[in-house]
Amino acid sequence: MKLFLDTANLEEIREGAELGVVTGVTTNPSLAAKEGIGGRDRYRAAVQEIADLIDGPISVEVVSLDAAGMIAEGRDIAEWIPNPWVKIPSTTEGFKAISVLARDDIKINQTLCFSVNQAILGAQAGSTVVSPFIGRLDDIGQAGMSLVEDIVALYRQHGISTLVMAASIRHTLHCTLAARAGADIATIPYGVLKQMAQHPLTDAGVSRFLQDWEKAGGA
Ligand code: E4P
Repeated sequence: MKLFLDTANLEEIREGAELGVVTGVTTNPSLAAKEGIGGRDRYRAAVQEIADLIDGPISVEVVSLDAAGMIAEGRDIAEWIPNPWVKIPSTTEGFKAISVLARDDIKINQTLCFSVNQAILGAQAGSTVVSPFIGRLDDIGQAGMSLVEDIVALYRQHGISTLVMAASIRHTLHCTLAARAGADIATIPYGVLKQMAQHPLTDAGVSRFLQDWEKAGGA
């Protein structure tokens, strides 16, 4: 399972890239707003800076509600950076836009997916990747991870090539379970990435090895 960073914060992306474990980035209007990135020109500039840090796919979300607007935005975003994935919501208008953009060979991240049926429609329309939102389903008392498991199983059963990206990840257990469910990608907040590296027994082990080394003469 590949790891993407779910952030528009350049410092987090820089630090994630240094770890050598991050292959892509997902952004959305809320993440951009959180970094004070307002307006299309500033979003484009920020996305271009992100693309300088990460070679892999960068997901950039449209804000239009109608298919024509999404198509126009998607075609524009596709020119911003070398490896864009245009994020299109799992709506009726979204599926129309996905089918047109996919025919233009533009890569699509079908976002805000909350059901297997939306994942079926997206795959037929031509989504490159579908993003089931785990945390937001958990938040309303539904098992978000079950949706990832169901989509992965169904795509495998039918030989569907659309990738599955576990999104709306809240904690490290989500990462473990998404990998176990067979997700191709998990897009995670930077804080979760840092937690994945942590274990108190690793820290204690490093410290004990150093103490023993020093006792035995050191250097
Ligand atoms: C994915 O592409 C989305 O940007 C993201 O995972 C949304 O997560 P949230 O529910 O934490 O906002």
